[in-house]
Amino acid sequence: MTYRLNTLLRNVAEPPIAEAQGWIRGRVFPAEKPLIDVAQAVPGYPPPKALTDHLAGIVGRPEMARYTEIEGVPALRQALAAHMSGFYGAAVAPGEVAITAGCNQGFCLAMMALAGAGDEIILPLPYYFNHRMWLDMLGIATVGMPFRADRGGVPDPREAAERITARTRAIVLISPNNPTGAVYPPAVLAEFFALARTRGIALVIDETYKDFLAAPGAPHALFAEPAWQDTLVQLYSFSKVYCLTGYRVGSIVAAPALIAEAAKAMDCVAICAARIGQEAALYGLGHLAAWREDNRVLMRDRVAALGEAFRDNSIGYELVSAGAYFAYLRHPFRGETAREVARRLAESENMLCLPGSMFGDGQEDYLRFAFANVDAATMPEIASRLARSARHRRS
Ligand SMILES: Cc1ncc(COP(=O)(O)O)c(C=O)c1O
Repeated sequence: MTYRLNTLLRNVAEPPIAEAQGWIRGRVFPAEKPLIDVAQAVPGYPPPKALTDHLAGIVGRPEMARYTEIEGVPALRQALAAHMSGFYGAAVAPGEVAITAGCNQGFCLAMMALAGAGDEIILPLPYYFNHRMWLDMLGIATVGMPFRADRGGVPDPREAAERITARTRAIVLISPNNPTGAVYPPAVLAEFFALARTRGIALVIDETYKDFLAAPGAPHALFAEPAWQDTLVQLYSFSKVYCLTGYRVGSIVAAPALIAEAAKAMDCVAICAARIGQEAALYGLGHLAAWREDNRVLMRDRVAALGEAFRDNSIGYELVSAGAYFAYLRHPFRGETAREVARRLAESENMLCLPGSMFGDGQEDYLRFAFANVDAATMPEIASRLARSARHRRS
């Protein structure tokens, strides 16, 4: 090759899920010990037939093949504003909504609107790897906050306060969290909000998993804060809630001024989110409230089944936190890397999970289990395979 590649991009980590999938490529699993794949956060069930029938019925319309408004189809912006207003018991206006090609793109656009090369963004450890990767690509410094296993994975706002400098543009939180599953209590989120507001930075909250909380209703009162738009930026995804990962649709809810900046970036990278994905999201918001609720209960029961399976202290692996789609486990093999442990689980126990080290520094003792694609009945089998792996290592 005679040309040079962008050094910032070359220095970014490889996409982690693809690496883990490589560990089992070409393998055939026996019927008595099938693969348990808890690596990728994907729902284990398809979208409802009513949704796909609806899409099949409209896909031939000429407008379905055309670009939409940069910020999204007006009806969807309106429907999402109404949904967020209802869910949070607060006022969110359609002009405060941008539809994006997935929540990942929402993060990318929001970060471009907030920060530039040399600026700093605070991320609690462990962080969602794509967040870090995007910031690295833009030359924006990631400032990590220590993982607080002692707080069930809930970050401490005081530790964020100590890390704010003149270059800090935002604190980014994910709740329910990927990778830990931790759900941040409303009082902690309120403290983060107050901190961000006082210090004149943004509080960005990724709520990809807000529809999978154990308890129904709003998980925080941030949208009820006076002038929430001055501080809060919410990112959301339609991927998991309506099983639309391939349709690529998500959103940013923020001040119209931020939406306007994000729209410039959106115009360049995609012009708009795919129309058919936007239609799928619109259908979901309008027709699938009961289906959404059923799946919330389904995930709640999976978390409960997982907790039950880990009640037995002899497993050797400690359940540090769990919620929504994820569990974060502390493995018993001190001194071994999380990657070594995860690879061994794939090889000897036919169980594919992700090493904590994919989610940042200091995570070698941890593994992430994304259990959304395994049912509650599989949780005891997960625990027994883990227990066996710990016993084999000891003997
Ligand atoms: C925290 C978080 N944000 C964003 C995404 C990506 O969502 P989308 O498919 O809407 O881009 C994921 C997917 O795993 C996620 O876990």
